[in-house]
Amino acid sequence: MTSLPADASALLTPSERERHAAYPAQKRRDDWLLGRAAAKQALRELCLLLGRPEPDYLELTIESAASGAPRVRGLDPEPALSLTHGHGRAAAWARPTGREGGLVGVDLERIKPRPEGTLRFYLHPHERAWLEALDPGQPKEVAPRDVAAIVCWALKEAAFKALQPPRGTGLLDVELEPAGDLTAPSGAARVRYRGAAAARATLLGVGEVRGGWSTEGDLVTAWADAPGGVLPPLEE
Ligand SMILES: CC(C)(COP(=O)(O)OP(=O)(O)OC[C@H]1O[C@@H](n2cnc3c(N)ncnc32)[C@H](O)[C@@H]1OP(=O)(O)O)[C@@H](O)C(=O)NCCC(=O)NCCS
Repeated sequence: MTSLPADASALLTPSERERHAAYPAQKRRDDWLLGRAAAKQALRELCLLLGRPEPDYLELTIESAASGAPRVRGLDPEPALSLTHGHGRAAAWARPTGREGGLVGVDLERIKPRPEGTLRFYLHPHERAWLEALDPGQPKEVAPRDVAAIVCWALKEAAFKALQPPRGTGLLDVELEPAGDLTAPSGAARVRYRGAAAARATLLGVGEVRGGWSTEGDLVTAWADAPGGVLPPLEE
């Protein structure tokens, strides 16, 4: 992590300050600010990695496309960026698009009991079967089945975000092929898109997508690497 200004809100540009102030809940404001801090750090580190001058926080603005996806102002060419915030934490990943890199997605989720009835909204029957083979534990207790359910959720959210899809796209358009145990503290998976997401991945030039996760305490961070992808139009 690069160092943050003592007053973290000082890293926001005027339009970002306005947006920040408009969130009514303090917790939401704090998490949103952490997300912007993580994103701007990732962008500054990317510039250093590419041998470019490190921009000041205030030279970078992170806007939202109509889809809600984050878009970067202040760097040319615009890099791909994904960010996630919640539970007092944030993570972000930035990198060049196209042949030099591709699109990216990150997601942060808390491991907690996951009601069985919610699984069908984001898991296909064969994916639910992996979970059904795991210990369901007692109600309201975190069991291996919950861990795997949250890992799948985070991986799918990350893969979803990589495509920056318009509203209306769902997680059932993302299919997972885990490389190992979904209850392990870290791991990898192949991602396949279906339906509208598959068409979008082709349109954006995305190659074979790989995902991964890592757990720290009760938080899972997942990422998806969509190589070769280019950014969609801002107005989507
Ligand atoms: C948009 C979505 C991915 C956000 O995820 P989340 O876990 O609620 O929140 P996170 O903190 O991880 O991520 C929020 C960030 O995602 C990014 N984001 C929002 N929409 C996005 C999109 N269409 N594409 C890429 N990134 C997006 C934004 O940067 C946002 O932060 P910001 O508003 O501060 O800029 C999620 O709400 C969603 O719509 N998921 C898929 C749809 C679905 O099927 N949901 C329900 C199934 S039961």
